[in-house]
Amino acid sequence: IASGTRAIHPTDSTVSLWDRAQARGHRGGVFWMTGLPGAGKSTIARAAESRLFGQKIDVSVLDGDTLRAGLCADLGFSEADRTENVRRAAAVARILAETGQVVLVALISPRAADRELARQVVGEGFHEIFVDADQATCEARDPKGLYQAARAGRITGFTGIDAPYDTPASPDLHLPTGTGSVGEVADRLAAYVADSVVLV
Ligand code: PPS
Repeated sequence: IASGTRAIHPTDSTVSLWDRAQARGHRGGVFWMTGLPGAGKSTIARAAESRLFGQKIDVSVLDGDTLRAGLCADLGFSEADRTENVRRAAAVARILAETGQVVLVALISPRAADRELARQVVGEGFHEIFVDADQATCEARDPKGLYQAARAGRITGFTGIDAPYDTPASPDLHLPTGTGSVGEVADRLAAYVADSVVLV
């Protein structure tokens, strides 16, 4: 193999996206949920998943903690590793969306440039969802005790404490989670997803 040449030959599916959508009654799509640790990404994603499944929508969740237990087990929290984490999640989400699935991705994805990369990787059907609770609220919740660990210096490079989070400038959906119940926020997300994918 000549240097710089990659001997790969991707094939195209003979099943069209439209045929898949008609078979299911909905299109595929990627709903990219970004937000600070503790903002509620995983909780809202799981609650919305259950609602959408109840509406016969073929839906799955790609969650940061789950990916990091397997596909991304070799990655840490450096800038480069977070970029690679986002790239892999986006690549998997695209594959699933091309099969016609609705994919809810729950990843801090703190850098706007990485989220832009995810949008490029996924292509059509990408939606950026900002799961928004301010840093003080997330720190008060601290469901995993990680803010406390970061404040005590037991964790370094923790998003929101000593690692950056770029607030989305123009998300496709803004979901504040500081007020209202999990159920209300999940209802809003599920309604947005269904509106975006269900064939009329
Ligand atoms: S990223 O930034 O998108 O690559 O992160 P992600 O894959 O979503 O993983 C975030 C969860 O990992 C835990 N954790 C940390 N988060 C941020 N910074 C540091 N240093 C860190 N170390 C561990 C934390 O539980 C995150 O979970 P959530 O659900 O976001 O609170």
